[in-house]
Amino acid sequence: MTPSDVKATLSFSDGSPSMELPIYKGSVGPDVIDIRKLYGQTGKFTYDPGFLSTASCNSKITYIDGDKGELLYRGYPIEQLATNCDFLETCYLLLNGELPNQSEKDDFVGRVTKHTMVNEQMQFFLRGFRRDAHPMAVLTGLVGALSAFYHDSTDINNPEHRKVAAIRLIAKMPTLVAMAYKYSIGQPFIYPKNDLSYAGNFLRMMFATPCEEYKVSPVLERAMDRIFILHADHEQNASTSTVRLCGSSGTNPFAAIAAGVACLWGPAHGGANEACLNMLEEIQAMGGISKVGEFMEKVKDKNSGVRLMGFGHRVYKNYDPRAKLMQETCNEVLAELGLENDPLFALAKKLEQIALEDDYFVQRKLYPNVDFYSGIVQRAIGIPVPLFTAIFALARTVGWIAQLDEMIGDPEYKIGRPRQLFVGAEKRDVAPIGKR
Ligand code: SDX
Repeated sequence: MTPSDVKATLSFSDGSPSMELPIYKGSVGPDVIDIRKLYGQTGKFTYDPGFLSTASCNSKITYIDGDKGELLYRGYPIEQLATNCDFLETCYLLLNGELPNQSEKDDFVGRVTKHTMVNEQMQFFLRGFRRDAHPMAVLTGLVGALSAFYHDSTDINNPEHRKVAAIRLIAKMPTLVAMAYKYSIGQPFIYPKNDLSYAGNFLRMMFATPCEEYKVSPVLERAMDRIFILHADHEQNASTSTVRLCGSSGTNPFAAIAAGVACLWGPAHGGANEACLNMLEEIQAMGGISKVGEFMEKVKDKNSGVRLMGFGHRVYKNYDPRAKLMQETCNEVLAELGLENDPLFALAKKLEQIALEDDYFVQRKLYPNVDFYSGIVQRAIGIPVPLFTAIFALARTVGWIAQLDEMIGDPEYKIGRPRQLFVGAEKRDVAPIGKR
């Protein structure tokens, strides 16, 4: 970060001493005002619940330009990565800062492939859940449980341990998600096969049975791989900030990633793809496209509490570039499966068209986000709705790890410990219970 020639001056109308605050410039994007000395010098905190105007860290990993609708992983536009690379290349890029050459890629893919199995004991964690447990409840438990198995890679301050834990988590998430699915439908777990691609292996662990050979469809394999790329990282979103804060205490990588899984589950965040699909099915059940107008009135009525799930974003005030790529993938997969006339896809496109012309959405700069079409693609592939967010977590694991690694690798990092504006009761004495 480069000190700017411009300084910020903070002055107070009551004549308290003013303060000069340094400003830093990044390589691109908004400058930051360094307030680290503010409390020490003024006895005052800043106040920013929801962190709308707060940069929590400096990072080299992902850049989002919300106005342009631009997303870069280590400087590469998401459109180019989604077209020219696969997910494991993208993982290598996010973790190491550069795209791999062929031998680097072969080595990385080889290491990930060799870690796809989980300890046989992991099955007994699943047996403790009800069969109808939500996959995100199961995944939160399973990922946290990994810290009980890999004592040789739980020292977050050891760079080697962090490297090994990264490979293990990237490699094992597809196996764990597929196990959660198989457990929910009462089918036997399918072991990974080392001669399949990362996405192909996942599809086979999800949909194969011991009774017959499972043939991976190249179109679905490519679609799955692209879904993973589009979800891999996204700057300091809620779950990534959770992983950073959790990891800042020095806890092990598996526990920090489990915290990220738990945060992603929320419908305002990664849970929106499941909520969006449920919303589309609800409108379809009400009568489909003919009912869109009525639904939109509810969305615009503040008291209804109804939101157009998959729309809106804290950073994007333009089209989420991932939503465009997801819509393209939708077209490809539905065409491949002969589902071009999928009613939910038609309904989603109608909703998008109406919303983008409606003043309520235009004024608030609400556009489709990554979750708007991802559910339709996953449903077409045969993935059950409750598993959508688990797949989001599978893909985002590499982003969480890269961000955690960047934080721990920064010698200046400290445990995160925000303060507050206290508005509660001032000091008072406890009255004996007879006098309360
Ligand atoms: C993800 O941060 C990330 O990067 C997240 C993510 C990632 O990759 O990690 O991109 C993944 O989480 C995508 C977002 C998925 N969530 C949804 O699709 C849920 C629906 N969207 C919203 O709930 C909302 O848009 C948020 C949570 C995404 C963003 O909320 P903000 O930035 O806090 O904005 P807000 O709630 O203050 O909304 C601003 C206005 C409000 O109206 P007014 O008070 O100004 O009148 O826009 C309205 C909101 O009511 N609004 C919506 C809306 N989203 C915002 N109204 C209807 N439908 C919506 N979807």
